[in-house]
Amino acid sequence: MLDAKTIEIVKSTVPALKEHGMEITTTFYKNMFAQNPEVKGLFSMEKQQSGQQPKALAMSILAAAQNIDNLSAITPLVEKIGQVHCNAQVKPEHYPIVGKHLLGAIKEVLGDAATDEVLEAWGKTYQVLAEVFINKEKSIYESH
Ligand code: HEM
Repeated sequence: MLDAKTIEIVKSTVPALKEHGMEITTTFYKNMFAQNPEVKGLFSMEKQQSGQQPKALAMSILAAAQNIDNLSAITPLVEKIGQVHCNAQVKPEHYPIVGKHLLGAIKEVLGDAATDEVLEAWGKTYQVLAEVFINKEKSIYESH
């Protein structure tokens, strides 16, 4: 589990990140699709263009991070998102790609406030979330 300091840092940066929600999500997708074009095919480009998907994915990572010390609060969400991910053929190896670009977007948006400590806290938190989703999706794939 995450230490108290990590949780505190993440929670204290969520409001600023949410405030710049559109900027963070746009940066995230732009960089991810440019640098890791192999994941592009997983996403519905129709939703990308309408702006619906950018909001859903990156914002839900921020929302989940806010509940990092109470993961049971997001259990129903994990189930639902897990199904969507399995339908889209999301695999464990995709998680580090999303993590890398999410951290990059956080860095861009927070600017000087994105100290090494802040980025490390976000990295650890994303790792915990990714494990929760990977495990859920493993059980969904196995049940099919
Ligand atoms: C902890 C990490 C992640 C969280 C919290 C998350 C969250 C979400 C949410 C909330 C949705 C929308 C679900 C809905 O439509 O109801 C979604 C959809 C989706 N996610 Fe994730 N996601 C994560 C990681 C990933 C990864 C690693 C990939 C693969 C690159 C991915 C690919 C997708 C795709 C393809 C969709 C379907 C939407 C579309 O077709 O554009 N996600 N995710």
